[in-house]
Amino acid sequence: MRTVARVCRALVRKVVLRAQTVRAFRRLARRAATRIRVREASAVERDAVLRVLQALPAGETPAGSADAVVMIAVWRRRTIGHAFISSPGAVTADPGTSLLSGVVVLPAFRRLGLGERLVLACIGWARAAGASTVWLKVEAGAGPAIGLYRKLGFVTVPPGESPVLAQTIAEGSPPAPPARSSAAAPPLIDMTLRVG
Ligand SMILES: CC(C)(COP(=O)(O)OP(=O)(O)OC[C@H]1O[C@@H](n2cnc3c(N)ncnc32)[C@H](O)[C@@H]1OP(=O)(O)O)[C@@H](O)C(=O)NCCC(=O)NCCS
Repeated sequence: MRTVARVCRALVRKVVLRAQTVRAFRRLARRAATRIRVREASAVERDAVLRVLQALPAGETPAGSADAVVMIAVWRRRTIGHAFISSPGAVTADPGTSLLSGVVVLPAFRRLGLGERLVLACIGWARAAGASTVWLKVEAGAGPAIGLYRKLGFVTVPPGESPVLAQTIAEGSPPAPPARSSAAAPPLIDMTLRVG
């Protein structure tokens, strides 16, 4: 009995030590990541990002990205993440709403706070441009992205209350998700954040 208890205690100690080591490494990595710059892309950098998007199959390009401001995370002159924010009213029927899209961080650089910094940079830009709301669409199964948006205060919009895309109105067709037109596409949920 005593031996079992001793083995259990040793196992618990091992697990706790491993968790502490992982946390310590993560803290160090996050501190190092503060040296990675998050900023608005220059015209040349923006064109490079958008050229990639333009090469995507129809329906996979994030709505509004063609006219969006692009925020990038740069590590050793390499773009390792980006996020797009549209001018208020440029993409949506509501003149006070900016659309956030294209939030991506390369896998090797995730969990270092870069997604958060990119989204905060977009929110800051939208607020300064006069937006009252930032809106986004996210795949219902995208746990990390939804966790990120919730952490920053985004709330889920009930179905049917989604802001309508301006292009959709102009074309006179029924509202559709901004990206992914395939029938097999995963369901998208709308989230918004009041910023003004
Ligand atoms: C979503 C994504 C951009 C997050 O980038 P990231 O740099 O790893 O995120 P951060 O390190 O800034 O994390 C910020 C918060 O997001 C949440 N989060 C991020 N990754 C998570 C994960 N794997 N599981 C749960 N929550 C997660 C956490 O709340 C985290 O805060 P914490 O570190 O204090 O717990 C990244 O996972 C990604 O590129 N995913 C694929 C593309 C995608 O789904 N984009 C969204 C399109 S709408």
